[in-house]
Amino acid sequence: MAERISRALLPDNTSVADDGMATFGGVRTDDLVTQFGTPLFVYDEDHIRKRCQEAVKAFPDGVSYASKAFLCKAIAKLVHEEGMGLDVATIGEAYIALQSGVPASDLTLHGNNKSMEELRYAVDNGIGKVVIDSFDEIDKIEHLYATTRKPIKALVRVTPGVEAYTHKYVTTGQVDSKFGFTVQNGQAGKAIERAKSSGAIDLIGLHAHIGSQIFTSDSFRKSTDILVNLAEHFGLPELCVGGGLGVPYLNDESSISISEWGRIVHDISNSSSATLKITSEPGRSIVASSAVTIYTVGTIKEIEGVRTYVAVDGGMHDNPRPALYGSDYETFLARSINEPREQKITLVGKHCESGDVLVKEGDIQDDLVVGDLLVTPVTGAYGHSMGSNYNKVLRPAVVFVQGGKSRLVLRREELSDLLNSDVA
Ligand SMILES: Cc1ncc(COP(=O)(O)O)c(C=O)c1O
Repeated sequence: MAERISRALLPDNTSVADDGMATFGGVRTDDLVTQFGTPLFVYDEDHIRKRCQEAVKAFPDGVSYASKAFLCKAIAKLVHEEGMGLDVATIGEAYIALQSGVPASDLTLHGNNKSMEELRYAVDNGIGKVVIDSFDEIDKIEHLYATTRKPIKALVRVTPGVEAYTHKYVTTGQVDSKFGFTVQNGQAGKAIERAKSSGAIDLIGLHAHIGSQIFTSDSFRKSTDILVNLAEHFGLPELCVGGGLGVPYLNDESSISISEWGRIVHDISNSSSATLKITSEPGRSIVASSAVTIYTVGTIKEIEGVRTYVAVDGGMHDNPRPALYGSDYETFLARSINEPREQKITLVGKHCESGDVLVKEGDIQDDLVVGDLLVTPVTGAYGHSMGSNYNKVLRPAVVFVQGGKSRLVLRREELSDLLNSDVA
């Protein structure tokens, strides 16, 4: 018999109504859909707060939320209320964080190719830290300093040459990487020396992010060890170990917790003679399993002996991860969340692409019909944020649920939004 959906993949405050309907944060799925339509992202606010609190405890010297995972004003405000700063990778992410009321001093600016405009924005707005990624960026910072006379507080990003054993598109810590300064070939050392001696830079530490969706604690150990040795060698007081902690997407997957990750990193740094400030910037592990996406089934096409395609009203515009990385997800019917899933399906979207697949090998309850509400869990990270308007599809709405109430935080796009930047 096929398995039910695992509770470990669902937002913490998921339950089942008497008639079998899934409820999120105390709100029934069908009520959410009546009010907000589909496709719909539903985030469990208390679930996110709990993960933030765990992260703040695991990294008491400071932890930033990697806003690329999912960003809007509501989430920026929420993570900041819980004591986190924000990692922003572009001027756009910085803008939204600032508009939400997060002070600039609590932002860290990333990017392997920051523009002059972005660096100037950081200086003008008083962004707390900049993570330096290249020698050209040091040139740009020095050029900027000639007019602003304001030094930038910075970390140097190093690539420690550690294999993260995850998808190649999200590994970043290996020698062959576009990010940061390589440790093995001496570039990292040169960059640190140059930043230390520059009047334009107030160098406070080092940064490394070895990749995303990492399940092997050994990679975190190795990377931290390299960072600790470098920081000790150059007498730098702060280390940011990046993000990257993996989360389960499928019933049979499991991962270490944020607390365990913190322990692993601190065990390594505590073995050093130097007293180091250890910070981190998780994204996925804060928000991924806090959210589900609800779709309406539009067509069911059975090709006997081949497969059954189930098409929903979303697709690669609300979740490009399967098309980009071949990522897998689970599926279930909202009206019978606790029932076993005996039917094999391929869940597809509405785009003009055969690659528009949301779940390649999905399990679903046997009595699925057109018009059903179908749910994919663990869509809180790199779903809405990586989404697009491909085929001029409108981006879905996002709601936060808590204590039996829902609030709209991003409205569904309207047709007129598609012409916002069209000036012809
Ligand atoms: C520099 C940096 N920090 C943090 C993160 C967050 O990673 P994750 O969402 O896997 O925790 C990323 C993601 O790519 C990143 O590039």
